[in-house]
Amino acid sequence: MSSEFILPRVGTKDNPVRLAVFISGGGSGLKSLIEYQKTPRVHITSLVISEKRNAGGLKIAEKNEILRFHVPLPTISDKTEMRLEHEKQIQQILENENIELIVLSGYMRIISPWLISKWKGRIVNIHPSLLPNFPGAHAHRDVLAAGSNISGCTVHLVDEGVDTGPILGQSRVDVHPDDSIKSLQDRVKIEEHKLYPKILDKICSGFYFNLNQKIDSHFSEV
Ligand code: GRF
Repeated sequence: MSSEFILPRVGTKDNPVRLAVFISGGGSGLKSLIEYQKTPRVHITSLVISEKRNAGGLKIAEKNEILRFHVPLPTISDKTEMRLEHEKQIQQILENENIELIVLSGYMRIISPWLISKWKGRIVNIHPSLLPNFPGAHAHRDVLAAGSNISGCTVHLVDEGVDTGPILGQSRVDVHPDDSIKSLQDRVKIEEHKLYPKILDKICSGFYFNLNQKIDSHFSEV
């Protein structure tokens, strides 16, 4: 572990932990989270960020009158510089809005070590497979290609690797012999939409604090 995971403060219903949700696509996960938060919770979606102007999730935010930011990728040819500049713009928004936890919900970009160093322990992701199996951008395709009869979803803290951070919770989903990527994805999303709010409740109510010293060994058992 190259640096320490620092978890967000414990929220209350009167003073919920302020979330920034990062999305790139349709935002069905964001939509279910916003619905969940219509009852007061220990976390609240304070803003939504996307690098894609037409991301459906930005429209969902608008409909729900949630602050939203389209932060396009800057036109800088050097990829490392471009990523850094993009993340600096994002970091400025997060600071301005007093964000306490970053929630990746279908965000299709890899967070660089620079942003992770500022947020380690306070960036969480949902991945559509049972990690550590099938990391990466094509989990459903890879599950089907491997002939696996079980899949699911995983919520994990984000570290410097790709889908490698400590696991906070998982749900299983059967793979059917006639599944397509779409049918499997649809079934997994049903579980994602239940799991993510539940794990956010745990993070933001301090459930993981006592385990902090043993983050790697304990989290996967939750
Ligand atoms: C989800 O399956 C999530 O696990 C993956 O991207 C998908 C996002 O879907 N990282 P949506 O945009 O929330 O509908």
